[in-house]
Amino acid sequence: MSDLNPLIWPHSVTRVKGEINIGGCSVTSIAAKFGTPIFILDESDLKSRATIWQKSLQETFQEHAGDVFYAAKAFVSVEVAKMIKELGLNIDVCTGGELAVVAAANFPGERIEMHGNNKSETEIAQALDYGVATIVVDSLQEIERVSRLAGLQGKNQQIVIRLNPGVEAHTHEYITTAIEDVKFGFSIASGAAWSAVTEIAKSPNLRLVGVHSHIGSQIFSSEAFDATAVKLLEFLKRYKDENRVELPELIIGGGFGIAYVESDQPISPGNLLRQIHKVVLTNCERLGLSIARFSIEPGRAIIGPAMVTLYKVGTTKEIKLKDGATRLYVAVDGGMSDNIRTSLYDADYTAVLANRDSIATKRDCRIVGKHCESGDVIINSILLPSDVEPGDLIAVAATGAYGRSMASNYNHVPRPGVIAVQSGMARTIIRSETTSDLLALDIAEGAKPIGERS
Ligand code: LLP
Repeated sequence: MSDLNPLIWPHSVTRVKGEINIGGCSVTSIAAKFGTPIFILDESDLKSRATIWQKSLQETFQEHAGDVFYAAKAFVSVEVAKMIKELGLNIDVCTGGELAVVAAANFPGERIEMHGNNKSETEIAQALDYGVATIVVDSLQEIERVSRLAGLQGKNQQIVIRLNPGVEAHTHEYITTAIEDVKFGFSIASGAAWSAVTEIAKSPNLRLVGVHSHIGSQIFSSEAFDATAVKLLEFLKRYKDENRVELPELIIGGGFGIAYVESDQPISPGNLLRQIHKVVLTNCERLGLSIARFSIEPGRAIIGPAMVTLYKVGTTKEIKLKDGATRLYVAVDGGMSDNIRTSLYDADYTAVLANRDSIATKRDCRIVGKHCESGDVIINSILLPSDVEPGDLIAVAATGAYGRSMASNYNHVPRPGVIAVQSGMARTIIRSETTSDLLALDIAEGAKPIGERS
């Protein structure tokens, strides 16, 4: 049986003569050419997932289908923004930095939406200058700022209001964003959402077109989205009753779960959207609303499974456990600086010995990094061939979302680059950092990387 579950690994992954190939490129040739650690993006996998979300939304909601906004926070580079642009999806950015990257890809402003709970005036002005179609407002101060800055530019800016529907998605508590005690959105229950709508109505520079909500991450079923849709539609009904017009846009956010390990059972985009569509139809009818344009913001579900991280094993160490069992610590050349999700969220991943087949029996291993911290763990417990040794390559699956995008320089470790592979070709889309990059921001006279000292 293959150890490469197609629900977890990118579509093009195979074993050829014992060695993992991605996009037709062998991992040893990738390691030799680009070094490790390195993020490997299966370009056609990314494109097919993006297309499936786009098609599923259109087929399910038909004339009421809005946009698929790819959530750039999961991962973005100029090349990836170009791919998303060419596939016809829209994009969601939440900082000036993300906007700068998509602008470098000439992403059309009319297909960009800007999020963020604390956008600076500079970021708002940049969005207005660039012609960002929609700004999602998240505080009363921000409503005032967008209104004032749009006024200065003589613009009437389209906005959507981020609502907190009070729905708690069942996922890890640190990444749940829609319970009451959180920083995001205007609470519907407390009346804050309605005050925001009243404020917006006073501004001649703002045009409110709809409501938005994002309820959490790594959600596997439709119930939480269904409940959210109902809350948002009830809010739209109140708006209609009080204003005698309807708001046309409904954005349900992202958070659609993916399989990191065998036990994860994500619902397919088609099934998920069909279920939500049913709820939207029934409730629009119940509330006497026309059906709003329905949009989504998947990040992880598009980029997550499309990328793999390739590491090289540096050391192994056998540890005796209290119960008499043993565990093999396998230390690789990256760690919490390129994957913080295990230590931050207790996230699970799967990995394989990538450069060779092994008939050795499998044993319990813990894959750890090179950082000076015991919590520097990539996978807590995984079965790997017992003969895994220094120099071997380890591939960790489904690291595309919130891996490179949350990477840091902890311990002054350079962040890995990203290569895109397809049809036997590999190209760099983000180069790996070097010691010179680390020193580039350090203002000290004469600071030069080791080896460049005179
Ligand atoms: N839309 C909004 C407004 C969001 O805040 C997010 C994620 C998304 C869409 C995309 O969610 P996705 O489909 O990628 O789950 N760093 C965490 C997740 C935090 C996500 C924050 N917002 C992680 O590594 O799991």
